[in-house]
This record gives sequence, structure tokens and C-alpha cells, in this order.
Amino acid sequence: MPQHRSHWNSRWTFMLATAGSAIGLGNIWKLPYMIGVNGGSAFVLVFVACIFFVGIPLMMTEILLGRRTQKNPLDGMQALASEAQASSAWKYLGGMGMVTGLLILGFYSVIGGWVLAYIFEAGGGNFSQITAAQSTTNFKALLASPLKLTFWHTIFMVMTMAVVAKGVNSGLEKANNILIPSLFAILLVLLGYSMSVGDMHAAAQFMFKPDFSKITPVAVLSALGHAFFSLSLGMGAVMVYGSYLQRNVSIARTTIYIALADTMLGLLVGLAIYSLVFANHLAPNAGPGLIFQTLPIAFGHMPSGNFIGTLFFLLVAFAAWTSSISLVEPAIAWITENTKIKRYSAAWGLGLIVWLLGVAVVLSFNEWKEIKIIFGLNIFETLDKLTSTILLPLGGLLMAIFAGYVMKKNHVQEELDLNNQHFKLWQFTNNYIAPIAIAAVFLFLFGLVK
Ligand code: TRP
Repeated sequence: MPQHRSHWNSRWTFMLATAGSAIGLGNIWKLPYMIGVNGGSAFVLVFVACIFFVGIPLMMTEILLGRRTQKNPLDGMQALASEAQASSAWKYLGGMGMVTGLLILGFYSVIGGWVLAYIFEAGGGNFSQITAAQSTTNFKALLASPLKLTFWHTIFMVMTMAVVAKGVNSGLEKANNILIPSLFAILLVLLGYSMSVGDMHAAAQFMFKPDFSKITPVAVLSALGHAFFSLSLGMGAVMVYGSYLQRNVSIARTTIYIALADTMLGLLVGLAIYSLVFANHLAPNAGPGLIFQTLPIAFGHMPSGNFIGTLFFLLVAFAAWTSSISLVEPAIAWITENTKIKRYSAAWGLGLIVWLLGVAVVLSFNEWKEIKIIFGLNIFETLDKLTSTILLPLGGLLMAIFAGYVMKKNHVQEELDLNNQHFKLWQFTNNYIAPIAIAAVFLFLFGLVK
């Protein structure tokens, strides 16, 4: 049945949207604290290697799968499998991705809620002259209140679903066209400020001075998982954005721009944060609370700190918003293309389900803190680890295998449209490097190698 599908207005809009999906809490909230927890430069080095050798080739793979089928991930994988005369069971790869996206959104929305709350904390001048102890108390008070957390999580979900409900042309494009450029603008202001006031030298040493002794298996595992998370890979988000992409756009060039923008931005935010952290003698390894506990102290003691702090959290909220949209889009595309349910109802219906999951996540920070799901992890930690270190790399591994070994080579070539040398390079990374790296991490994860 021929379907009318909307298309991005231009390559620029696709880039903005995909960059908008990639750039989010992963860059601003997660990457900085993971760098701190995993020993600084060692983690950065492995992370950047994972972006180049696994992330970039697999992003090209995911876009090419999406653009070839012009369908949602589930139907798309099925169509691609039948084109390649392979088992239709490949469609479950698309289905797994949709579920993964909803699981991520369950906690993503709660953290997005923290950010919204902190825009108002900063705007209300609550950081002025704050001490380290007060800042920690403040953050803990937020975590201890299921009501407050649920309130902000609800606002974040409504913001996300309001854009999704409007659809690809009227919703996503417009939001991204405004949000991404403003985000870069706000970051430049913050960075300039950190350079003049913070300790950029210490931050650069911490993040970039190579120290191979600190590379641990756990750091490698987290770095690989985070490369997937940061580039939005392995669940079909990039695939579904790619399915709205016109045929005449170069996948390789677009991918490289996006991956570079995403990685650069994450590292720049890291530099801005750590130069403030070191100048104020704060601990780099504070964990998930890093930006919420340490930055207010920095903002509280700098001139115009309330203003800069408000801008900063506004930036984070924008970034999180354009990312969360892409976490539901695959499932919405599948529902609207397979059932009579309209986009509007699909968005609010799924929104309600994910909202409930988010409430469970909220409770895992207070009332249900002690409830462990698996390996001593609570609900939030389980969702985070399950998605980042297992489901996303698994999705990526299967996509790489599909594009590399199941699809006909000339079909892949047709989509990538690369010269021979570049095609070979993609093939080598997609067929060997990425699968072997991911498989090695899984073997380690399941204790098969030590
Ligand atoms: N990449 C986003 C971030 O860094 C999060 C995200 C959006 C994501 N869509 C995704 C992660 C799809 C994995 C898969 O914050």
C-alpha cells in the first residue's frame, strides 16, 4: 500500500534534527559525570575511539537502513529482510528498538525534569553565595520529594508529547530549527565565561592528558555504551529520521558533521564544567549529581551567576527536549502507519504509559530507593544500564550484521553512494571493527572473559 510520507525540507533540517536527537542530557549531564567517575582522560580517549570506530560507521548504517525503506523501524526491517530474502524475524530488531526508546524516555524525562526545576532554582537566585553543603542539601531535597519530581517529570513529558503529537513537518522541524542554533549560542556564552573565570588548564589536563594506567574494563564498557547513547544509535531513532531523508543527500558527510558536532559539544561542555569545578575546588567524581550539586556553587559565586546559571539550565532543557522527541518517534511512526490510531492520540497514549514508568523512576530516588531490580541496581539504575550497556549496543550489533552480511552489497552501495575506497573503509569498520568491539564488550559483561 503506497503511503504518503512527509520529508525533511532540506538536508540542513535533517542535520539539525539528527544533531538535536544526538545532543542532549547524554552530552551535558551524563558525559561529564562519567568522565569524572571513570578516571578522566582515560575514559575520554576510549570514548572518542568508540565514536570514530563504532559510532560513525554505525550511524551511517542506521541512516542507510532508514532511507532505503522509508518506513518505521519494524516494517522497515521487515521490508529490508524480504528484499534480501532473509528471515522476517529481523523485524523484531525494529520492535526491540521502539521498546528501548520508551524505556530510555522513562528515566530521561525524570532527569529532564530536574533540569526544568533547576532553571527556576537558578532564575530565582537560590544559588547566590551557596556553600557546597547547602547545594548538596538542595539537590537531595529535590530528590527526596516524589511530588516535586513527578511535577517536573510531568511537565517534561507534556513538552515532549506536544511536539510529537504535531508530527514531523509542523512539530519536529520547527522545534529543531529554533532550538539547536540557540543551544550553540548559549553554549558559547557559557564557555567564554568559564574561560575567563575557571581553571581551563586543570580541566584540559584532567580530560586530555593521556594516562593509560586508568583504562579499566568498566571504563571501556561504559565508554562504548555511552557512544551509542550519545549518538542516539541502536534503537531506530536515527533510522526513522533517516527514513524521512531525501535521496540526494550524502549519508557519510552528514554523519561525520553530526558525530563531530555531538562529540565536540560534549567535550566542550565537559571543559566548561571542569574548569569551573577545579577553580572552585570541587570534586570531579561527584556522579550523576555532578552538574546539579557542583555547578550551583560555581554559579553562586561568580558575577552574573544567576543569569549564567539560568542560561545554562535552559540550554540543557532545550537539548533534552529535542532528544526526547526522537526517543518516541519510532514507536509513533509504527503506530500511525499500522493502525487507525491518529498521531495525536498515539502520542498522548504512549505518553501516559511512559509517564507511569517515569513515576516508578521518580520513586526509585526516594520511597523505593531500596528496591533492587537486578545486580543490586534500583529502578533508575536498571533502566539506565540495561539500555546503554545492553540494548543499544545489541541493536547496533544486529544492524551492523544486517547491513554487512544480510543486505545485498549493491543495495548498500546505492544508499551510501561512496567511492570505492571510502566504501571499503565503511565496510571494514561496519563488518569487522564494530561487531568485534561490541561482541568483546558483551563477552566481558557476561563474565565470559575476565
Ligand atoms: N542522544 C541523546 C543524548 O545524548 C539521547 C537519545 C535520544 C538517545 N535519542 C536516543 C539515546 C536514541 C539512544 C537512542 O542525550
